[in-house]
Amino acid sequence: MKILFYDTKSYDRDSFESISNRYPEIEIDYLKTDLAPKTAQLAAGYDAVCAFVSSDIHEETVRGLKQAGVRLILMRCAGFNNVALDTARECGITVMRVPGYSPEAVAEHAMALALIVNRRMHKSYVKVRENDFSLGGLMGFNFYQKTAGIVGTGKIGAAMCRICRGFGMRVIAYDVYQNPDLDFVEYVTLDELLSQSDLISLHCPLMNDTYHLINRETIQKMKDGVILVNTSRGGLVKTVDLIEGIRARKFFGVGLDVYEEETNNVFEDRSDEILETSVTARLLSFPNVMITSHQGFFTREALSAIAETTLENALDFAEGRENGNVVK
Ligand code: NAI
Repeated sequence: MKILFYDTKSYDRDSFESISNRYPEIEIDYLKTDLAPKTAQLAAGYDAVCAFVSSDIHEETVRGLKQAGVRLILMRCAGFNNVALDTARECGITVMRVPGYSPEAVAEHAMALALIVNRRMHKSYVKVRENDFSLGGLMGFNFYQKTAGIVGTGKIGAAMCRICRGFGMRVIAYDVYQNPDLDFVEYVTLDELLSQSDLISLHCPLMNDTYHLINRETIQKMKDGVILVNTSRGGLVKTVDLIEGIRARKFFGVGLDVYEEETNNVFEDRSDEILETSVTARLLSFPNVMITSHQGFFTREALSAIAETTLENALDFAEGRENGNVVK
């Protein structure tokens, strides 16, 4: 099986090459360029392509891959909202993903963001480096005995529930399905979660019914002084409404690992560029906002698990084995 990797970073290559000797049947070539309509044709002669969260795998790209003879799209991530699944189905191209490589990696990052904005670590780091040892603007609040509201209690949300319980928080959750493993969690309606939580962390996928789940109306239902964390997908939060809520002093803090404008930014060094839009810049201008660049998954453990599952997915496809990681 020949796989063409798109958008390869040095750490992707390292993690896949470190286990490639266990998969002699698989041959991989690595490209730095990302998958998009114009680059799909580069996959001619390959059985599969391997892509990531910022790849553009919409209709035109999928048709380009079909023309190139590709039969399999291997997503080396959990999300697949950037793939035109209907077109893939129509073109006879299978899409596989890595659903749960390390839920703790993302959940720990979500808690890191919550702690950073709560205790203003991003501010104190800069202050102390400038020999400013004053405490103005740094006061936070205890998470102990406060309420954490977790939206989506799948693998990552469940890990976040356990972390919040470890902090001595009351944990409430909203999900369309209740997770039977979480006997310490109280399931509530979304409105109850919004009105009771001191910390709200989003862990549901981006779909039609979750797009802009956090908007002017839902923000109004939140407690004043809430902390909002999004490590799931940018489209869950309507950024202009979030900015309005921040200006109205609704939030004690906001921690974002994902945001609506991230597609062109993800994993790129754009420090020398003049950016076209100002929404993200506006968010960054607030002292109580912390943004990271989609790095929730980025731990050693997660990268090895991603490499292993991706290559197992490829082998199962090549050998016609049933595999639950096929996106249907
Ligand atoms: P999962 O599939 O295990 O869990 C998702 C949960 O959301 C399920 O329990 C599902 O029932 C629930 N859900 C679905 N629709 C809902 C709705 N309308 N309202 C409330 N809950 C709903 O997924 P997992 O592995 O926990 O990942 C969650 C999300 O985290 C992914 O969709 C992905 O977007 C994001 N992610 C972010 C990463 C990062 O680096 N920041 C890395 C990996 C995933």
